[in-house]
Amino acid sequence: MSSNIVWHEASITKEERRSKNKHQSFILWFTGLSASGKSSVANAFARRLFERSNQAFVLDGDNVRHGLNSDLGFDEAGRKENIRRIGEVSKLFIESGQIVLTAFISPYREDRQVVRELVEDGEFLEVFVKCSVETCEKRDPKGLYKKARNAEIANFTGISAPYEEPINPEVILDTEQHSIEECVEQLTNILTAKGYI
Ligand code: ADX
Repeated sequence: MSSNIVWHEASITKEERRSKNKHQSFILWFTGLSASGKSSVANAFARRLFERSNQAFVLDGDNVRHGLNSDLGFDEAGRKENIRRIGEVSKLFIESGQIVLTAFISPYREDRQVVRELVEDGEFLEVFVKCSVETCEKRDPKGLYKKARNAEIANFTGISAPYEEPINPEVILDTEQHSIEECVEQLTNILTAKGYI
């Protein structure tokens, strides 16, 4: 659709920004059911990174759907476009030398794979926030599972819409077995061992 447009090279490279920040830039892609703990872990980990003087920013499903993606619904096409846009925005964050933490259900494997392929090798780390539907439904902090059960919300992930678990994620955090603090600790250890932070 876009024609007659020309790519402009930036005057500051990604590598220069990384070197000034003294850390890598990459995406930590949290995926999991609603109420699995994606936002909680992402925000707690972002605080940890901030305290280590790392440049980190959280993109959160509920927040982004208030603005940038407020025109999108929860059918398959809406979710696909949601994730595509977030992928593009995340790529800009990588270019800007930052660590971007994304907290979206992102239920479709294919959509997550599109983002993985959008960036360079090693710049996309999939973090599966593992928690059973039963437990998420018990937590139900926003009362949405209840509404989904009463058919007041259609296409609700885990109830009336699918969630495709990652097959080979870089990280698995089990929020049923571990507290948010423990998950932050695990993530810190894994990323340190892999040389990302
Ligand atoms: S995604 O599937 O497109 O990745 P996203 O993470 O942006 O979803 O938004 C999920 C949030 O929207 C949920 O945490 C919940 O608060 C809200 N929501 C509203 N309707 C639905 C629905 N049908 N399915 C899942 N989440 C919904």
